[in-house]
Amino acid sequence: MKVLHVGAEVVPLVKTGGLADVLGALPQALIEQGADVRLLLPGLPPILAAVSNLATVFEFGPLFGAARIALRLGRMPHSEVPVYVIDAPYLYRRNGGPYQSDDGCEWADNLQRFALLGWAGAHLAAGELDPAWAPDVLHAHDWHAAMACAYVAAHPGTRARSVFTVHNLAYQGLFPSDDFRLLGLPSRFMASTGLEYHHQLSFMKAGLKFAGRVTTVSPTYAREIATPEFGCGLDGVIRSRAGAVHGILNGVDGAIWDPATDAGLAARYSARKSAGKVACKAALQTELGLELRANAPLFGVVSRLTSQKGLDLLLDALPVLLRGGAQLAVQGSGDAALEAAFAAAARAHPLAVAVRIGYDEAFAHRLIAGADAIVVPSRFEPCGLTQLYGLRYGTLPVVRRVGGLADTVVDASDEAVRSGRATGFGFDGASAAELGGALQRALSAFARPTLWKALMASAMAQDFSWEGSAKAYGLLYESLTTEGPTR
Ligand code: ADP
Ligand code: GLC
Repeated sequence: MKVLHVGAEVVPLVKTGGLADVLGALPQALIEQGADVRLLLPGLPPILAAVSNLATVFEFGPLFGAARIALRLGRMPHSEVPVYVIDAPYLYRRNGGPYQSDDGCEWADNLQRFALLGWAGAHLAAGELDPAWAPDVLHAHDWHAAMACAYVAAHPGTRARSVFTVHNLAYQGLFPSDDFRLLGLPSRFMASTGLEYHHQLSFMKAGLKFAGRVTTVSPTYAREIATPEFGCGLDGVIRSRAGAVHGILNGVDGAIWDPATDAGLAARYSARKSAGKVACKAALQTELGLELRANAPLFGVVSRLTSQKGLDLLLDALPVLLRGGAQLAVQGSGDAALEAAFAAAARAHPLAVAVRIGYDEAFAHRLIAGADAIVVPSRFEPCGLTQLYGLRYGTLPVVRRVGGLADTVVDASDEAVRSGRATGFGFDGASAAELGGALQRALSAFARPTLWKALMASAMAQDFSWEGSAKAYGLLYESLTTEGPTR
């Protein structure tokens, strides 16, 4: 089975969130199961700089405003995964993020930038860009790659089938409908059955409407996005594809996230030899200037600071932690008001609350290893990875029961504790009171060391490896390709 993954970010080259973790791990996991997998990425400067042995396979243009475009093939650094890079200097070679400039403004030409990513994916799938390789399945991730599904549908001779994975329905890639003419698609695509969305055009809808299969990153989120509460205005579209929408949980890349081998930690540890976690906690408290107390329950957060993540609820519930003698360590960046509010909390309680604003991968490892619990109070969460990292590092998740958080954390109810299944703490309503209740239960459990140790042991015994997820994707690809063409 030949599979082309198309996306805009990948660990360790470009990352704004969990999508990059997935694109860094899933192709390799599929290769380990015998699939022939390649990646297609935009030629952003860090990608061009890091991909090794780049060789040109095709040159084309002008297209989407770029005069000259080269499709180059190389390998991901320190990996076997072959990667096509679209080198279009006019569209991609600039400083800043993949979607925004450094001052936080969306790039004005994102329509052209990501239409090109989709176009190149579809034409690779049609066998027109690389005579030596064409996929059976094109797998597009999030709105950035979604146009690939529309271009495949518009291209009559394409044998390859398409899969579209929604990592976050809240980011949709909406553009003025007048810009449809820039896409080079037949006018029938600009209809309510296609890209048209309330007088705008939606890249997300291109994926939802034209992919052979739609997946999202947890079974619960797959059900949630069919409802108005979580559907971001697209729940009707999701319902219209009901039989074709699947939820497949993300995994954890054990080569990057494993406390037994994590080189950046003060000490390494495992479920059987957990003493190193004590050293990690002391090192974190010292690094952050928190009071050096082994018996102070230390709660952590590693997150984008956006309303999705519900961290305003944590600010409101902070008194519960402070009254309980707990500490809080936050690593995050995003919304300026949230950044300022967390910084103010740290100033007000310097020995109990520490906040690092910014993005720091190495520190995220030290924080997750050093904390006793990780708080993820999201309003919605397609999958969520930090609670999975928490489980693996024996750092018990305190989560709102939505999306992938509901699917991966077992609340420490009396029954779940008795049966040895409990791995963390859950709450239902998006309110500071309900979060506070879960934090209080975590504090009580922390005060019972035997119970806490048992919870850590069952958390660390969970298997969220990529192997299982890759198998599920493999079966999905097979069901799609054996079905034959539908167009
Ligand atoms: P999302 O993709 O919605 O942001 P996930 O939980 O799926 O949420 O993935 C977030 C990823 O980004 C994790 O790998 C997490 O460790 C990382 N991350 C988020 N914020 C930061 C930060 N400020 N510094 C370092 N890593 C971060
Ligand atoms: C998105 C979601 C997150 C998910 C990640 C990877 O960024 O917000 O829940 O884990 O994609 O699939």
